Amino acid sequence: LNIGLLYGGRSTEHEVSMRSAASILSVLDREKYDVNLIHISKDGEWLLAPDSAEIRDLSGDADARKLAVRPSGQLEGLDGLDVVIPVLHGTFGEDGTVQGLLEIAEIPYVGCNVRSSSVCMDKDMTKRLLKLEGIDVAESVLFKHHEKDDVDFAAVEAKLGLPMFVKPVNQGSSVGVSKVTDEESFHKALALAFKFDTKVMVESALQGREVEVSVLGNADPFISVPGEIIPDDGFYSYDSKYLDENGAGLEIPAKLDEATVLNLQDVALRTFGALDCEGMARVDMFLLEDGRIFVNEVNTFPGFTSISMYPKLLEASGVSYTELVDRLIALALE
Ligand code: DAL
Ligand code: MG
Repeated sequence: LNIGLLYGGRSTEHEVSMRSAASILSVLDREKYDVNLIHISKDGEWLLAPDSAEIRDLSGDADARKLAVRPSGQLEGLDGLDVVIPVLHGTFGEDGTVQGLLEIAEIPYVGCNVRSSSVCMDKDMTKRLLKLEGIDVAESVLFKHHEKDDVDFAAVEAKLGLPMFVKPVNQGSSVGVSKVTDEESFHKALALAFKFDTKVMVESALQGREVEVSVLGNADPFISVPGEIIPDDGFYSYDSKYLDENGAGLEIPAKLDEATVLNLQDVALRTFGALDCEGMARVDMFLLEDGRIFVNEVNTFPGFTSISMYPKLLEASGVSYTELVDRLIALALE
C-alpha cells in the first residue's frame, strides 16, 4: 500500500504534528507500506522527502521535491497514493481543508470527512450542533472580529459568571486560550485570542474533572475507557501539554465508578454521531460533581505521540499503538 504521510502544516500546532508524525512513522510496517513523507512547511509549501527515514523539517532542503497542488486536486509528482494520513493539527489540516483537497484528488484519507473536520475545528459550531442533540455544553458568548472593540465585560460577566475562559474559536492545543477572573485580564485575553482568530468565544468555566474518551471506527465505533487530565497550572494549557517537565498528568484509566464510565462513553458516542465523525476523534468532556457531563470539544486529529491521550486510552482498552495505526488505515479504505 502506498501511503502519504502529511505532517507539519501551517497552524500553530506545527511542532506537535511533527511529534505525532514521528511516532506514527515509527510503527508503520515497511513490509506492508511504502511510505512517502510530505512535510507541509509553515509557509504552506508541500515538500516530499527524498527518503522515508525520519520526520524532519524539509524547508530549504535541496533534496526535497516541491509538490504542486493542481486545481484538480492532484499532487503533481505524486500520483498513485492509496491512502493519506493527514497528521495535521489545527487550521489548514484538521479543519477540513486538506480533507477537501484529498476528496477532489480522490485519495482516501485517515480520519474525519470534510464536514465533521470543519465543524469540530470550530468550537462554536460544535456547541450549536451538540445542543440540538441534547448534549450539555458550557454557556458561551461569541464575538466576531468587527465586534471586538465593543465587548461589554459587565454584560458577559452577568451571563457567564467568573472565572471564564476566552478562546479563539478555531485553534487547538489551547493556543491563545486564557482563564480570566477580572475585567483587566478579560480585555487582555480578548486581544490575545483575536490574534489567532476572527471569532472568539467566551465561555463559563465549569468546575469539574477534565475527562477524555477516544473513539475509533466508522459506523459502529469502538469507545475507549476514559482518561483524566490532572492539570498543574489552573487549566490544561499549551505549556502543560507540551513544555513543562511536570506538566499535566494523565490518569489512564480515570478513577471512576462503572456507571460514570458508561455515561461518559455514551456521551462520547452520541457526540461522534451528532457531528458525523468518521475514523477517529477524541471527545473532551467535563464531569461535574453531580454527575452531569459537559462536552468541551472534539479533536478529529488528536495529539498522536506514543504518550498522547488518544492512543494511550486505546492502549488501555486493548488496542496497541501499532494496531491502532493499522486500523485507521483500514478504516480509511472501507
Ligand atoms: N490539538 C491537540 C493536538 C490535541 O487536541 O491533542
Ligand atoms: Mg484540542
